[in-house]
Amino acid sequence: MPHYSTLGSIPHKRHTQFRKPDGGLYSEQLFSTAGFSNDYSLLYHVHPPTQIIKTEPQYSVSPQVAEEKMLRHRSFDGFKVKPVKDYLDSRVPVLVNNDVHIVIAAPQESLTGYFYKNTDADELIFVHEGSGVLKTMYGEITFSYGDYLMVPRGTIYQIYFDTPDNRLFIVESFSPIRYPKRYVSKEGQLLEHSPYCERDIRGPQNLQTFDQKGDFLIRAKKQGMMYGLHYGTHPFDVIGWDGCCYPYAFSIHDFEPITGRVHQPPPVHQTFEARNFVVCSFVPRLFDYHPDAIPAPYNHSNIDSDELLYYVDGDFMSRKNVTRGMMTLHPAGIPHGPHPGAVQKSIGAKETKELAVMVDTFHPLMITKQALELENGDYTMSWAE
Ligand SMILES: [Fe+2]
Repeated sequence: MPHYSTLGSIPHKRHTQFRKPDGGLYSEQLFSTAGFSNDYSLLYHVHPPTQIIKTEPQYSVSPQVAEEKMLRHRSFDGFKVKPVKDYLDSRVPVLVNNDVHIVIAAPQESLTGYFYKNTDADELIFVHEGSGVLKTMYGEITFSYGDYLMVPRGTIYQIYFDTPDNRLFIVESFSPIRYPKRYVSKEGQLLEHSPYCERDIRGPQNLQTFDQKGDFLIRAKKQGMMYGLHYGTHPFDVIGWDGCCYPYAFSIHDFEPITGRVHQPPPVHQTFEARNFVVCSFVPRLFDYHPDAIPAPYNHSNIDSDELLYYVDGDFMSRKNVTRGMMTLHPAGIPHGPHPGAVQKSIGAKETKELAVMVDTFHPLMITKQALELENGDYTMSWAE
C-alpha cells in the first residue's frame, strides 16, 4: 500500500467533533481495505455519504466465458477492440479467473455524466494511449501514456480524457494490489533494491469540495452486476482526508530496470502483487553484458503460472509478428521461449526498447467470448521451424 498522506482539512484527533463554519458537523467516513484490520483512510464529508434517494434496476456485466479450460499458446489483438463512447460500455473483459479480470477498453468520451465505483476489485488502469485526469473523492490525478492508475476498490471516480483516442489495459484485482513485499522494509519504506521509490508515486492533488445537493448517479459494480444508485449529495464533497488507502499513479517510464551479466529472470521486472498474481513491467534497458551472454530469454516451463504479456511499444526481440496492443497467453503446463532465429539474432545486441506489461496468474485464466473475436490465427504452432 502507499504511504501515509493527507490532503485538505482534517481535525487534530480522529473520531472527534469537526465542525463546519456554520457550526454543523462534518461526516467522518472510514475507508478500509480489509475490515478494520488493514490500511485505511478517514474522509470528512460535508454531507453524510449515505443518502440514497433512488435506485435503478441492476444489469449483468459478468464476463461470458467461452473456454474454461485449454492448453494452447494464444495471441489476441487488443487494438481490435472497437472504440466506444461510454467508459463503462467500452470495457471488454478478455481473460478472467477468481483472482483477476483482464479488461481492454478504448473509451472515446470522458466519464462525466455519472460516477463509477468497483466495489469488488482494485482497478489497475494502464494507459497505453491517451491522457487526462482521474477525478476521485480524494482529489485528482493527471495521467498520460505509460501511467498505471491504481484505484482501490470502492473509490468513486470519474475519468476525463483529453482526446477520443484512448487505449487502456485494465487489471481488476479481487484482492488489494500492493507493492511486492520484498521491496518494502519492516517499517513500510520502499527499499534501496526496489526498482521504484516513493518519489515515483503520484497521489491525488487539487482536492475540490463540491457542496451540492441534487441527483447524483453512482454506477456500482458488485459480483458481476451493475447497480445504479442515486444520491442526494455530490460524491466529491470531501473537505479533507488522511491515511494509507487512496488512488495513485505510477509511470512505467519511472520503473528502473535491473540488469545483469547474464539473463535476469522475470521477478526483476515485478511491479505489483496481489493474491495469486503479479504484475511486471518490461522497459527499455541494456542487455546482459557477459561476453558470451544470450540476451533472448531461455525456454521456460511456467509450471506454476499462466503468463499474459501485453505489448505496449518498441521492438520485441524474442517474438515474431508482434504489434502494439497485442497480448500473448502462455498457459502453465507447456514450455515457451524465443521464436526461431530470435536467440541468434539477440547475441551481441546491446539494448532493447521493448515496453510491455506482464500479468502472471497462479491459477489458469479463462477466455471470454469477446476475446475469441480478437484472436490471431494459430499462434500455438508459431514456433515450428
Ligand atoms: Fe515467459
